Amino acid sequence: EIKGLLFDLDGVIVDTAKYHYLAWKKLADDLDINFTEKDNERLKGVSRMRSFEIILEIGGVTMPEEEKEKNCTKKNDIYLEYIYQLKSDEILPGVRKFLEDARAGGYRLALGSASRNAKLILEKLGITDLFDEIADGTIVSNAKPDPEIFLKGAELLKLPSDSCAVFEDAAAGIEAAHNAGMYAVGIGTEENLPEADIILPGLNNITIEDIVKKLQEVER
Ligand code: G6P
Ligand code: MG
Repeated sequence: EIKGLLFDLDGVIVDTAKYHYLAWKKLADDLDINFTEKDNERLKGVSRMRSFEIILEIGGVTMPEEEKEKNCTKKNDIYLEYIYQLKSDEILPGVRKFLEDARAGGYRLALGSASRNAKLILEKLGITDLFDEIADGTIVSNAKPDPEIFLKGAELLKLPSDSCAVFEDAAAGIEAAHNAGMYAVGIGTEENLPEADIILPGLNNITIEDIVKKLQEVER
């Protein structure tokens, strides 16, 4: 029986990918690396440092650890300028109602995001109170597809893995959910998320009851 719902943040609740892109783009330009919007797809669900390493790989650039750290800090400073401007109207369509209805339906909700800025983003969107627990990049050390973030979320919710469903827009996140022994609801397309148990274009016009019913029909 599904009792806990774990939500990725970027791409599921809010489209911060565009701000991550703008910030990485600025950094890449400064380093003379040609970084495109298509490349940005590879950064979804990936930790900050790993994202930067992917960009360096694209440009065929290497640099010492210390300098990488500096650049990551620089990127985050640029990113935060966008995040400080974030308003509740940037919550993706239907998400707030979906979360409210799920809570009212007795489900326990947790955030499961690799972002170290997750709490700030939830505050800016005004939806912190909709989550019972928050598992974010500040409390885990292994990035998705490692299951750590979701296992941590389930632990905080005091629920076993097999009673949790994960909502994810990144392939690495779907893999992480399965590695944790949880159901995986993909937010996106069949093409991007072939491993998801079910796929939805978004959280509007669907109820948690519909989703749970569909998940129970899926053979695991
Ligand atoms: C999420 C996003 C990634 C981002 C990561 C770390 O997983 O999908 O694109 O790199 O969080 O975010 P942060 O806010 O800590 O840089
Ligand atoms: Mg995501």
